[in-house]
Amino acid sequence: MCGIFGYNGAKGAPFKVKEGLKRLEDRGYDSWGVAALKNNRIDIYKRVGSIGEVNKIPLDEDSSIAIGHTRWATHGGVENKNAHPHLSSDGSFALAHNGIVENFQELKQDLQSKGYEFSTETDTEVIVKLVEEHSNKNIDFTEAVRKAFKDLKGRNTIILLDATKSRIYAVRNGSPLVVGIKDDEIFIASDTLSFSNETNQIIEVENNQMVEVNRGIKKLEVSNGDEVDYKIKKMNLEESRIDKEGHPHFMIKEIIEQKHTIRNATLYSYEELFPLINSIRQAEHVYTVGSGTAYFAASQIAYILRRESQLNVTEIKAYEISSYRDLFKKNDVIIAVSQSGETADTIEALEVAKQKDMTVASIVNMIGSTIGKMSDHLFLARSGPEICVAATKSFTAQVAWGYLVAYSLTNRFNRFQDKVDKLTTEIEKLFESGIVQDIGQLTKTLVKEEHFFVLGKGKNYNIALEGALKVKETSYKHFEGFASGELKHGVIALIEKGVPVFLIVSEDENKEDMLSTASEVKSRGAYTIGIARNNNDLFDYFIKMPNLKQLDPLINIIPFQILSYKLAVALELNPDKPRNLAKSVTVK
Ligand code: F6R
Repeated sequence: MCGIFGYNGAKGAPFKVKEGLKRLEDRGYDSWGVAALKNNRIDIYKRVGSIGEVNKIPLDEDSSIAIGHTRWATHGGVENKNAHPHLSSDGSFALAHNGIVENFQELKQDLQSKGYEFSTETDTEVIVKLVEEHSNKNIDFTEAVRKAFKDLKGRNTIILLDATKSRIYAVRNGSPLVVGIKDDEIFIASDTLSFSNETNQIIEVENNQMVEVNRGIKKLEVSNGDEVDYKIKKMNLEESRIDKEGHPHFMIKEIIEQKHTIRNATLYSYEELFPLINSIRQAEHVYTVGSGTAYFAASQIAYILRRESQLNVTEIKAYEISSYRDLFKKNDVIIAVSQSGETADTIEALEVAKQKDMTVASIVNMIGSTIGKMSDHLFLARSGPEICVAATKSFTAQVAWGYLVAYSLTNRFNRFQDKVDKLTTEIEKLFESGIVQDIGQLTKTLVKEEHFFVLGKGKNYNIALEGALKVKETSYKHFEGFASGELKHGVIALIEKGVPVFLIVSEDENKEDMLSTASEVKSRGAYTIGIARNNNDLFDYFIKMPNLKQLDPLINIIPFQILSYKLAVALELNPDKPRNLAKSVTVK
């Protein structure tokens, strides 16, 4: 996690870095820092908390070269001293880091035995001392950085500001890094979105490559220091719509955007889908993989492929890949689901799949991502930037794309288009019908409760799990999702008088079972909330949903997203930035 940003260009570098960091906050926001160079001296300013609302930082705006960092703590508490950038002992360079130095204890002990003293608990300080150690060997600074980086284990990306040569260095392995070019200005950052308001000309930096930036750019291989050519690419970046467009929070804006994002994700022609369809048809087994919300989307896609295409499909939690490793076979297909395309757990799962010569497909929202580059078949979710840390529109986009694939596999591509048209119309109507206000009313009844349950079955099971995760993330309430069938096998022990239980009831083969479940929890005193086509005496509160048959899950998630938003607002929490979370989880 963490976001890094560097700028070399005109005066006003601290301002540029501050603005870039604000656009990187989805990677972590527990503390931040900026280091600026002026008259061969580096000044650093760091603060605990989010940089979001900061207008001015007390650094010399005459500086034309600066780096910065927004942090998600892994090693060392959330304190000023642990915030990045970290300054070298002689003040000659500052360093910020995204990743985890897996061998930091070993390196630290070694450096301590050589007399180095540490003043923070971060693994990052180990990199600073390592660069110092290599620099002491009378080698060029570029070489010192390269050699220090080679000593690190794990997925790490670093950025350094060097006062001696007035340069920025950045080195990548695992965690993302990209360079932006605009006339005489150079941006170096964790993602393109952070500078997409400035330029769409980029240079990609691959794993184990480093860049040295002054007025120009040099790209080097970390392994041997050889210079490598680079190309400037023009990215098709939608001009970063990173504004709330009149909404109080990104979360509600992004929930409402589902009126069109679901459709966008399915705007692929049959010809574009065909290579994937072909690979799936040739595969003995298909797997879907993701983490968190993206795992629930992956799980729903697996469900749809089983139900709609009668395929042998298994969903895998990315961080639980190990037991599947020996089952993977050449030409099996793995479909990775990810908003950011940078999730370390998902990337590691794909690395395993690639070792086994599997075909990798992915549905990713961010352009130019690591997962995208690893994929044989990449599909973009085209939801636009998702700024709220809790995923909403990316989830429905990914699931909708899964439906498109399932229907296309069974020669029902055109039929799906009609269905998605109907879905889009019904989502419009749902918002027009006042669902946001309706859930707002319900929130007033529920806000004091601490424990909630949601039950679903069949196609609505993953919706129960994702709905519960959403509410947990933004309201910090205990909200559990279960398969309704699970109830009598243990969960029912948790049901007591007044506990709110949501029941997702579709007009399908599971309706009767769901209503029996409603009856069972109600007779134990639960306060039942039906998310259903038709009201029923068993519901204490009723949220009317349309009947979209197989596509119900895509709309049934929306009440939970709104509830999650409304509860956060009622509790005076910021739904866009829940505590302890980061949007891009680039560490394991
Ligand atoms: C929850 C959420 C996370 C992500 C997970 C994977 O709202 O956003 O659970 O889904 O960290 O992230 P991506 O989709 O970027 O791979």
